[in-house]
Amino acid sequence: MCGIVGVTGNDNAVKILVEGLQKLEYRGYDSAGIYVNDQKGNDYLVKTKGRISQLREKITPDVHGSTGIGHTRWATHGVVSVDNAHPHFSNDDRFYLVHNGVIDNFQEIKAQYLSDVPFRSQTDTEVVVQLIDKFAVEDNLDAKSAFLKALSLLKGSYAFLLMDREQPDTLFVAKNKSPLLVGVADGFNVVCSDAMAMLRETHDFLEIMDGEVVTVTPNDVKIQDADGNPVERKTYHVDMNADETDKGTYPFYMLKEVDEQPNVMRKLAQTYLSEHGEPQIDDKLIKAMQAADRLYIIGAGTSYHAGLVGKRLFERLAHIPTEVHVSSEFAYEQPMLADKPFFIFLTQSGETADSREVLVNVNDAGYPSLTITNVQNSTLSREASYTLLLHAGPEIAVASTKAYTAQIALEAILAKALGEVNGQIVAQNFNIRQQLGLVATGMQAIVDEKAKIEDLANNYLMKSNRAFYIGRGIDHAVSLEAALKLKEISYVQAEGFASGELKHGTIALIEKDTPVIGFITQAKTAGLTRSNLQETMARGAKTMTIVREGLAIDGDTLVLPDVDEMLMPLLTVVPAQLLAYYTSLNKGLDVDKPRNLAKSVTVE
Ligand code: M6R
Repeated sequence: MCGIVGVTGNDNAVKILVEGLQKLEYRGYDSAGIYVNDQKGNDYLVKTKGRISQLREKITPDVHGSTGIGHTRWATHGVVSVDNAHPHFSNDDRFYLVHNGVIDNFQEIKAQYLSDVPFRSQTDTEVVVQLIDKFAVEDNLDAKSAFLKALSLLKGSYAFLLMDREQPDTLFVAKNKSPLLVGVADGFNVVCSDAMAMLRETHDFLEIMDGEVVTVTPNDVKIQDADGNPVERKTYHVDMNADETDKGTYPFYMLKEVDEQPNVMRKLAQTYLSEHGEPQIDDKLIKAMQAADRLYIIGAGTSYHAGLVGKRLFERLAHIPTEVHVSSEFAYEQPMLADKPFFIFLTQSGETADSREVLVNVNDAGYPSLTITNVQNSTLSREASYTLLLHAGPEIAVASTKAYTAQIALEAILAKALGEVNGQIVAQNFNIRQQLGLVATGMQAIVDEKAKIEDLANNYLMKSNRAFYIGRGIDHAVSLEAALKLKEISYVQAEGFASGELKHGTIALIEKDTPVIGFITQAKTAGLTRSNLQETMARGAKTMTIVREGLAIDGDTLVLPDVDEMLMPLLTVVPAQLLAYYTSLNKGLDVDKPRNLAKSVTVE
């Protein structure tokens, strides 16, 4: 979604801003802009529709400055246009503002305070910058006081970065629900909505809390809480190499991230298991989970799908009833809860607004929670009672791959840990270290078969505008993720389906050459899924099977190495990721940045 960058005190402000925006491209956007000021009376605003490369083309050699702000916009209010792109500015050209989030009451504010002000955009953001200007001019307030007065009227989510031409070396910063960080660099300071944007400048960041207002100058960062009191805060170190965010020789990040999965499995085993395979998880977390009578896994999209697999792991290994919920639904229609619930938030980014909304309610109710995330110090990580990191390295492609498999592997480790302390024999007999080793080797064997999978994508998926993935139980859970991968990057309408349910209606959609892909990894249901595939073949479907070796028969399309049935999703999903990748690639689409989508969805 939208991205924010800012810098003060560096003569290379333009370069820093544009490179920062480039690092945020992966989040999804449709327009971009920068505003820079050189402190000597010169300032420049450059905005464009489209990509950062187009913004670069519009930045003429004279554009320079030492303080500035930049933004990538993912349209919410108003069409994609230069006028609607950020930074927005007040009609007297004094204030410049970039904003992530959505101001729910901007129409009311416009009607009540700004009815005589002409607007050039349809955005909620322009309303805010005009409001700040109005308070500054009419109430004779300085920039910070006018900013505070405007903030006191706003409802919704925001991360704001404001500049005032009368204090051109100062960045005014505030946030509510949307992420924003200050980075402390050598002799200058930066601001960004995602640490990744500024890793070339610094690894030391300061969190900003909701309700705080921060004033950033080249040599100083002043934080003030919601009551106006000064706040002292230490920086935290982001342990990530800027090069990890490059795609190296890969044509797309997605392929690189699919290929990284064997190493991610090994890294998780190293991080969370002893040499002898004993889980090394914080005792306090295990005790808090032990005290629960039901687990609630909350997630969106791919993370929700990883939760569906996690449910099976927690119930089988730890013998604790587990529910999985889509966060955007749970937030506004909470089911009846058990007496002692424990919440697990699955979120690659740690910033998903839908999931955060649930966490806010969970915290208000005083329930314990754990966030499983890939991003250190992300909002959901900070706000949950406990955090476990995925250690998957930055995931840049919009289509989530290695985060899904990392989430499942970490759920398995956690379920094993919980099952052992609960005296569950299944958990005691489950050699997770050995299994994750087999998974890593199995994943490697699959990613080494890329040519074969590309052929299958060409034969099955390139010519159809719809497809079905089917399976039962845990295979059904994977079929939902497989269908999501295909939909989001290749625009083929795909459905993941419980194979036994097909004949109750959906089989009416099967016609000649409709692709139907069956996952067969569970001994108990293998025969049934095969029968359901036969039913679709009888109606003309073009079927493919993705089967584990122990259950394979002659004629199966893709035979995968055997690992414990509970962990088969870690392997079956890999060919599904690659099928989606090659379908998108061979259609000539932008694999990493599919249309309409954002990597981190920070609005509800
Ligand atoms: O960062 P999160 O895991 O909370 O993101 C949730 C979804 O937006 C995300 O998984 C989305 O479905 C993926 N991009 C799909 O590949």
